[in-house]
Amino acid sequence: MGLQINLEGHLALVTGATGQLGRVMARTLATAGADVVVHYHQNVAKAESLCAEIEALGRRTMAVTGEVGQKADVFAMRDAVVQKLGNPDILVTNAVSQIHPWQTVLEEEEEDYEDQFRSCVLQNVFFAKAFVPAMIEKGWGRFVGINTECSMQLFKTQSAYGGAKRAMDGVLRVLAKEIGAHQITVNQVAPGWTISDRDREQGSERSERYESTVPLARRGTDQEIANVVAFLASDLASFITGAYIPVSGGNVMPTI
Ligand SMILES: NC(=O)c1ccc[n+]([C@@H]2O[C@H](COP(=O)([O-])OP(=O)(O)OC[C@H]3O[C@@H](n4cnc5c(N)ncnc54)[C@H](OP(=O)(O)O)[C@@H]3O)[C@@H](O)[C@H]2O)c1
Repeated sequence: MGLQINLEGHLALVTGATGQLGRVMARTLATAGADVVVHYHQNVAKAESLCAEIEALGRRTMAVTGEVGQKADVFAMRDAVVQKLGNPDILVTNAVSQIHPWQTVLEEEEEDYEDQFRSCVLQNVFFAKAFVPAMIEKGWGRFVGINTECSMQLFKTQSAYGGAKRAMDGVLRVLAKEIGAHQITVNQVAPGWTISDRDREQGSERSERYESTVPLARRGTDQEIANVVAFLASDLASFITGAYIPVSGGNVMPTI
């Protein structure tokens, strides 16, 4: 038996677990042995089916809903989770509010910047405030923020999304320094443009234009993103903190 990721005895909370990538993260953490809280926004049906899958794996679970960018919602979710399952020690801040279409700075509405700031930045601030104190008490914790390769590319029309993800990066690097002494790691996984259920349903897995820019010459999969989340949540990653880890086939390469 080689090295294994074993999350038995841990309680994870995945925000946006009903989304394309979040559902695979939630399943993967449960497969690795964690109990998993499923956060959703509107997709009740997906939250229920995901909870059923997690229960079938023999893990404890519950679904919670709320706006991740609203402090009162985040604290209400915290209270509900603590009452039923206890304090999560693995947090995955994956939820994102999608704005369509992305526009140039001159066209993008002020509200879109505010929306993305709440979704990408304040989500992390509020989840830290709500859940990190119990991790500090425990002397162990894992905070995994889901960023994006876009925050390094910053192509035209990505100012609201990419700008907010860059600010998220700033908050989480500082948080890593502030709470590291408690053996709580804070890292970010930055996916490239990833193949998920939606692509499988629509047959849209391939994009020659995008693939041609990627050193590994293909799009990654939702499972490849979730694998890195599970690794960062585990004791195998006990000495990694403050990292922004692209899982993009080399499409972005942070400088040192
Ligand atoms: N997919 C990609 O190729 C890709 C690439 C790079 C980075 N990412 C990052 O990966 C993460 C997941 O992306 P995704 O593509 O899986 O997104 P997605 O499919 O659109 O899912 C978004 C999730 O967030 C929830 N949500 C939306 N607005 C919310 C709000 N205001 N408050 C609380 N929850 C809210 C949704 O809940 P309901 O569905 O229940 O309403 C859903 O579970 C994001 O952080 C994104 O930036 C994704």
